[in-house]
Amino acid sequence: EKGRYDHYMHKEIHEQPRALEQTLQGRLGDGVALDDLADETLDGVERVAFVACGTSYHASLYGARLLIERGVPASAHLASEYVTAPPPARAGTIVVGVTQSGETADTLAALREAHSQDQPTLAVTNTVGSTAARECDDALFIRAGPEIGVAATKTFSSQVATLALLAEQLAAREGTGRGRPFRRALAALPDGVRTVVESDDVRSVARQFRDSDAYFFVGRGTGHPVALEGALKLKEITYEHAEGFAAGELKHGPLALVTERTPVFAIDTGHNTEKVASNAEEIRSRGGPVVAVGPADSPLGDRADAHLPVPDTDPALTGVLANVHLQLLAYHVAAELDRPIDKPRNLAKSVTVE
Ligand code: M6R
Repeated sequence: EKGRYDHYMHKEIHEQPRALEQTLQGRLGDGVALDDLADETLDGVERVAFVACGTSYHASLYGARLLIERGVPASAHLASEYVTAPPPARAGTIVVGVTQSGETADTLAALREAHSQDQPTLAVTNTVGSTAARECDDALFIRAGPEIGVAATKTFSSQVATLALLAEQLAAREGTGRGRPFRRALAALPDGVRTVVESDDVRSVARQFRDSDAYFFVGRGTGHPVALEGALKLKEITYEHAEGFAAGELKHGPLALVTERTPVFAIDTGHNTEKVASNAEEIRSRGGPVVAVGPADSPLGDRADAHLPVPDTDPALTGVLANVHLQLLAYHVAAELDRPIDKPRNLAKSVTVE
């Protein structure tokens, strides 16, 4: 039940610290322990191909970057595109379907395609007993608890945390894991999320920008999937136009859209920060308001109209914290505009047709 919250989405945003604790429970110690996986599941795995849709695709893009940073080749595919043009099967590739529900038709189709090519498959899902969990060779559960709101929130954070564990586990075999400092940062992630959720710094920003023509989100590295996710959340529940871009792409087209009525949320995850800061200047010099989302000492802070601060953590996890601000932004803008937050028009929680 919603308890003291007006909407499931708001409740689920607030549940994230607890959801993350459950995700990480028993999986961090002297190393990473993913006990749900059979011993042989990761044997011979040299490469990871993620297939997913929507928010789960953004978590997959994030997870692929965590693997690549550790020297493990990885790619993320929109499940519908994977089926349309399946990449050539290669020995040593595991196809990982990331799906909260475990029932998304496009993702199931991509996993079936991989299976038909004799590729090993793994489901990363929130739902025990789901079709994805049953049909894949193995399943890894994100343990976020039930999510009722159509907008995926806590499951994104738990998916990224689970993929971070998987990345560490795969990299540890090559000696390229980040080891204890990263495990400590992961263990502290629930507290970082709690700080962001409780501060609710974004409420006044939402009020300030509620009548904008459009909302843009830019980032680099892990900030790129967070930009895509921030835009998806906002368009899904506010019905306002929102787009996320790789910050480097701005001047290749989207900059033409920037006016004083299009706030740009610039996400600093420590990847090429100086370049994100100069993107922010390009936006401001064209009259666009900039909201920095990043660490308190981010150089973006001084070059922005507002700053949503993110607690200190390992840079690989900054994006998870930044994303929580953007979830709250979407929520508060939608509340200001009186939208039906938990059941946005035309959308279903689980999309069971291709
Ligand atoms: O259950 P899944 O994770 O497979 O669902 C995938 C998407 O349909 C889902 O993430 C969708 O994009 C959300 N409504 C976004 O908030």
